[in-house]
Amino acid sequence: MYDHLTVVEHPLVQHKLTIMRDKNTSTHKFRQLLREISQLIAYEVTRELDTEQVTIETPITEMQAPKLSGKKMALISILRAGNGLLDGILELIPAARVGFVGLYRDPETLEPVQYYFKVPPEMADRLVIVVDPMLATGNSSAAAIDLLKEAGATNIRFLCLLAAPEGVARMKEAHPDVPIVTAALDSHLNEHGYIVPGLGDAGDRMFGTK
Ligand code: URA
Repeated sequence: MYDHLTVVEHPLVQHKLTIMRDKNTSTHKFRQLLREISQLIAYEVTRELDTEQVTIETPITEMQAPKLSGKKMALISILRAGNGLLDGILELIPAARVGFVGLYRDPETLEPVQYYFKVPPEMADRLVIVVDPMLATGNSSAAAIDLLKEAGATNIRFLCLLAAPEGVARMKEAHPDVPIVTAALDSHLNEHGYIVPGLGDAGDRMFGTK
């Protein structure tokens, strides 16, 4: 349906997501699953990383084998919920640098307001993976990517857990060059800007603030 959207339909991802959606799942369990699922989605978002052949010696013989070609990476968390995706992905890609974009949604207009911005140097040379569990209206994500492009980023991917069609459309309009990888494309947004059926407020679910 959307050429810039990949839905990771792997059974492990879908199983974990179902437990995360359940309102009876504890904060602790939610965080644990988020960490696990972030790694499975990161697997998809990094599928096309460049590799190069290097010479190694196995215990048996010398061989040419692929290694990541050492392209610089930046993981950018959209605060605060993005932080729940960071640790798992950093375990997989320990050399990635990390940045933060702080935006909150004005509850009336649902428009993003910036309160923090700190990213690694040399953004133009990096593969930039922006992480935020919920792609809802897409306004914050689009605004965050505007800021990252102003900072020099050109090669950007967006990783989320759930996407609403409204957010996917907004991102396609604002940033057609940014592929989106998600675990599910849900039905719609409700009048408060929450994804339906969704999983509620991702930040509250992971930090127990409600
Ligand atoms: N942010 C959330 O945490 N949940 C939603 O459903 C939408 C935006």
